[in-house]
Amino acid sequence: MAWSYGYFTDLNYTHGYYPEMNPAMLRLACLCNAVEPQLPDAPSYLELGFGQGVTINMLAAASSGTYWGTDFNPAQTVEARKLADASRADIHLYDDSFEEFANRRDLPDFDVIALHGIWSWISENNRKIITDIIRRKLRPGGVAYISYNCLPGWAPVVPIRQLMSLYQDYGGGKMSRPIEMIEGAVQFAEEIAKAGSYYFRDNPFARHHLEHMGKQGRNYLGHEYMNAVWHLEHFSDMARSLDEAKLTYVGSARLLDGIDAFQLNEEGTRFVSQIGHPIMRETVRDFLVNRRFRTDIFAKGARPLPGREHRDAWCALAFVLVVPEIDVPKKIMCARGEVALPADKYDLILEALADDGYRPKRVEELLKHDKLRKLKPQDIVDLLTVLTGAGFAAPAQGPSETVSEQCRALNRHILQRALVSMDLHHMVSPVTGGGIGLNHMTQLFVLATTAGKEGAEALANYVWDFLDSTGERLVRDGNKIEAKDENLKEIRILARKFVKFGRPLLQALQIIDAPEGGGWSNEAKR
Ligand SMILES: C[S@@+](CC[C@H](N)C(=O)[O-])C[C@H]1O[C@@H](n2cnc3c(N)ncnc32)[C@H](O)[C@@H]1O
Repeated sequence: MAWSYGYFTDLNYTHGYYPEMNPAMLRLACLCNAVEPQLPDAPSYLELGFGQGVTINMLAAASSGTYWGTDFNPAQTVEARKLADASRADIHLYDDSFEEFANRRDLPDFDVIALHGIWSWISENNRKIITDIIRRKLRPGGVAYISYNCLPGWAPVVPIRQLMSLYQDYGGGKMSRPIEMIEGAVQFAEEIAKAGSYYFRDNPFARHHLEHMGKQGRNYLGHEYMNAVWHLEHFSDMARSLDEAKLTYVGSARLLDGIDAFQLNEEGTRFVSQIGHPIMRETVRDFLVNRRFRTDIFAKGARPLPGREHRDAWCALAFVLVVPEIDVPKKIMCARGEVALPADKYDLILEALADDGYRPKRVEELLKHDKLRKLKPQDIVDLLTVLTGAGFAAPAQGPSETVSEQCRALNRHILQRALVSMDLHHMVSPVTGGGIGLNHMTQLFVLATTAGKEGAEALANYVWDFLDSTGERLVRDGNKIEAKDENLKEIRILARKFVKFGRPLLQALQIIDAPEGGGWSNEAKR
């Protein structure tokens, strides 16, 4: 058997970063579910199947602790090690299979064992090996993060996946290059639909899904559908198998998934509120939202937090915005559709968080904030939970000098890479302990800033000179803008916005050096 055990290795995986895997977010998710976050300040953290290693490297650079990871794809391990070499963080990356890794004698016990996008694409034997690693190597008090494709949401797509897999084995797949093979498999399914298939006629969701697949990245499609294994799990089965490893379900790492008001309609909320058993309750919620993907947190030795301790733990947390307040929309998309973020409350908390150059603020400070006097303490906690769950805010830490230096070094590497590639969409913040999404243009503005450019005009000229030297042009409404003036006009608009909103925020997040006196106040750092 090849080293890949039928895992699709012809195309490397995308360079994703997953904020919910940040130890600070795992602690917060425990708190949101009234479970004591027992992770130490400097956890020992294991990621199984790190892919390109973006998440584990960003966490290792930006959060304290020791980070371990394995991914049996050697090309990806090489890539991941480049980021580790850049940050010089405390990180150990291997190209062991899960089985080889489980047999290592040099492993510590872990406070976190995390796997994202792994469980549904590996064999039953490998799933058992992972459960065994969690059972043996997760320290009491530790948490496991596991994301996976689940039922009932994926059920109508099972036949499409089977078609894709058969095309790979018996269709035009064998002779083609990987991208062509995936292209061919999607086209083959589309031809079946056009040939009057009653399956596609009678399953509108499957038809819609196939249309969507036509627009998705080919690397993603390869990893999603072309593996030898595609295992769809019921939440109750996952909970049962981890129960054998002494783990209890805590909640979703994606905070909005846990809030009924963002997931269910009124009837659904009423129905779910009558269900006492946590596993049954979660199963019913999966049916109500037709869930396809879960990001579960389980804890070994979960301790419920009594009311007083729960309140104190919240008060001790600090938060920071991770997008400028003007970029926070008035509505967000969730499982139940568009949900409004009412301005009478959200504008107040956004203003408070943006105050004082976006300085991170403790909840206890926010509770006394002038602008938030109208809000009840629980409102403030709820608003922070929603803003964080939606990716607009994050828990903040007072970073050590080591963490700050690791982030500076990794960010320098990311900026150099932005000159030759657009594959990394994040930079690291020592304040949030993880990655912050920044598109290529913003990375170029950061680069210009670090090169000493200040005003919008200087930034725009710097970026244009770079784009011109590489022959790149901006794109408007899907069309390349050719004229220099037109390109510069667009870049100036973006540069002005960056100077006014983006740069102060990135200074507060310590991605750009802050002017003297910026960043954490001494009071907040305590
Ligand atoms: C879908 S990718 C997800 C990567 C990463 N966690 C992410 O979300 O970006 C799955 C990864 O698991 C790795 N993998 C699959 N089976 C494995 C095994 N038996 N041992 C080690 N790594 C494995 C693959 O090489 C691949 O990089």
